[in-house]
Order: sequence, then structure tokens, then C-alpha cells
Amino acid sequence: MAPNEVIDKQKWIDKKADGKRITMLTAYDAAFTSLLSQVDGLDMILVGDSLGMVIQGHDTTRAVSMDAMLYHTEIVARSGRGIPVIGDMPYHSFDTADEALMNATRLMEAGASAVKIEGNKPEVVIRLVEDGIPVMGHLGLLPQTAENFKVQGKDNEAADTIFKDALELEAQGAFAVVLECVPRSLAQKITGALKIPSIGIGAGPDCDGQVLVLHDMLGLTQGYSPKFVKRFAQLDSAVIEAVQSYSDEVKSGSFPTDPYSYH
Ligand code: KIV
Repeated sequence: MAPNEVIDKQKWIDKKADGKRITMLTAYDAAFTSLLSQVDGLDMILVGDSLGMVIQGHDTTRAVSMDAMLYHTEIVARSGRGIPVIGDMPYHSFDTADEALMNATRLMEAGASAVKIEGNKPEVVIRLVEDGIPVMGHLGLLPQTAENFKVQGKDNEAADTIFKDALELEAQGAFAVVLECVPRSLAQKITGALKIPSIGIGAGPDCDGQVLVLHDMLGLTQGYSPKFVKRFAQLDSAVIEAVQSYSDEVKSGSFPTDPYSYH
């Protein structure tokens, strides 16, 4: 299979200029990636370090290793039928520009079309962009370093910092920026000030695009769910019901019947 194309920054700037909204979802495995790539109009897949919670069962993204990100990025890139795949740079993988370049290069070699980096790290972003690695920024709530998981940028000072960081990321050469858990008015202001697209998660409808964690929007995640998560399906109950039927039928002897047997 042909490798995924490296992100062409101008294409995403043009999409924004043309008022075309951008859709992104996370994926971590072949089965879901294959389904996602059959959806008309889904623009990008993010191999997020949210896989720490969704796949690995941790309660933080901080536990996710570079090796885990490479493993899942490679799987998604192989299964995605050409849809751009963004590889998340995990905690401590971009502490210095040298480390960032080494790790981002590995993600690109694993099949990523671009990498995503949390926070405003000028020396890192400039170095990667100079080396031809497209960077998606990520501002607002930064799960790798957050002390609390609340809406960010509510007071003027915090909002000004996020706004300034967004402008700086654009100047450093980022091709897009994720805005996580910020007030709608701040996301709108940032979106209006940038040429590159903003991709919101819990940032309201005025961003140029949206991203959600796939398992959350499919209703596979149980327990606490943030306000911004819309469950577009209830797959948790569908899975439990199907597995309950399987277990009941095996135990009662009603599965497998003759049509499911070889002769
Ligand atoms: O890791 C992730 O899935 C993310 C999204 C929530 C933006 O960073």
C-alpha cells in the first residue's frame, strides 16, 4: 500500500479560506480505522495519546510511551486507505528539539502524515517544520501537563496567553491547532485571527473543524463524560447485549446450530 501523503499545509489553509469545515476523529486500531476510512468526508484520523485511557486502561495520557505511539500509528497508517493520519507526540517525547526531531521522524516513518504537539514549544515546532515535518498544535486543556481538567482560558490573562500561543504556533509554521476545552468566545476569536484552521474539542461551533475521541462519540466509553461529548451511538449497550446473547446461547446449546457447522 502507498504511504500516506505528508500533510500539505496550504491545502488546509485553503479549506479554511473556502469555509470548508474539517472533521477529525481518533483511531488506534485496524478495525475502526478501516470503518472510518469508508466515511465520506472524514478529513483526518488522529492517533491520540488518549489511547492511554481508551486502549491501555490508564487514567492519564502521561503513561503512554513512544513505542506505544509508534505501534498504533503504524497500524492506523496501514489500515487507513490514504486518509491523513496525525501521530500524537507523547509526554516527554519532545522535551528538547533534538528529541522531538528524532521521535517525530520515527512517527513519520511509521506512516504519519503529520505530528501533534501539546503546548507552545517554539524551538520544537520550528525545528520540525524546518525539517519538513508538519505540526498540528494543541492549546487550551493540555492533558499531558494539566493540573486540573477544567475549562481553560476563562479569565482574561489565561485567555490572552492561549490567544498569543495560537498566533505564535501559526508563525512557527504549524498547519492547524487543536483547541481543547476553552470558552466558545475565545475559540471564535482565535479562529478569526488565524489563517490556519482551528480544530475544536469542547471549544464550541465556531472552530474550523472538530475532533472527538472515537470511543466517546460511539458511546463505548462508560463512566464520566465531559459536557462536550455527544454520543452519536450507544455501542456500549449494543456490545453488552450481543455478548450476553452469545454467552447465553453457548450455555444453553442453541449456538452453534447446524448452519454454523461444517459437513
Ligand atoms: O489524544 C487525543 O485523543 C487528543 C484529542 C483529544 C485532541 O489529543
